[in-house]
Amino acid sequence: MAIKLIEPPVPRDMMPKHVAVIMDGNGRWAKKRGMPRKLGHVQGAKAFRKMMIHAIEIGIEYISFYAFSTENWKRPDDEVHSIMNLMSKYLTDARTEFGDEHVRIILLGDNEAFNPELRQKFIDLENDTKDFHALTAGCCANYGSRDEIVHAAKAIARQVKDGTLQPEDITEDLISRNLYTKDMPDVDLLIRPGGEMRISNFLLWQCAYAELYFCDTLWPDFDAKEFDKAIVEYARRTRRFGGL
Ligand code: FPP
Repeated sequence: MAIKLIEPPVPRDMMPKHVAVIMDGNGRWAKKRGMPRKLGHVQGAKAFRKMMIHAIEIGIEYISFYAFSTENWKRPDDEVHSIMNLMSKYLTDARTEFGDEHVRIILLGDNEAFNPELRQKFIDLENDTKDFHALTAGCCANYGSRDEIVHAAKAIARQVKDGTLQPEDITEDLISRNLYTKDMPDVDLLIRPGGEMRISNFLLWQCAYAELYFCDTLWPDFDAKEFDKAIVEYARRTRRFGGL
């Protein structure tokens, strides 16, 4: 599939480099229509696909989607299964869908908890797309920000223990390089549709200076126009990073 580039909603130098998206509201979208929650996720996966295409066409460099959190395992089995199936389908379809678009896809999360087939699909797709640079898409699955920081702390502690690292050499940059997002810059813009105003254990370290954008639209209804609206709002903000 050849995706045509289009003019972004703001000048390129005002675009966020890394956009992170919390895809919230699938369950409510389904409930409002008297449908099972899992059909909300089916619609959510369609919205996700459209946003990937839109990110490519307006030239976003990095995007991360919250697909499944470390806490989402507590949901009913059939809902968990349907989200896993949608992810598995996305990993298969991504090859044909974005094969020519130079999209790098990376898993942000702990791969160990997935069934062997899904785990292997993530590994294969990461390997096959590792040299692509047009868009880097992070799929946050079995992801929790605190869990990610614990992983990083353990990896660093092991290096200190075996003598390859001195405690005084631990810097913010070193911690960043031990997170799942090691190949991505910090988040510039965090978008949360669905009406809730919280971060929900998502990219806490990486969002330290992110601009936050909340809207009431439920994720399955979130479209390119809404995405552009968030980018226009981002470009209007003055970012000071703690300075004046
Ligand atoms: C949050 O909405 C959404 C999720 C926990 C799952 C998101 C999954 C997808 C969009 C589909 C699969 C992903 C990919 C990458 C293909 P919610 O269920 O908490 O909604 P609610 O707040 O209305 O209950």
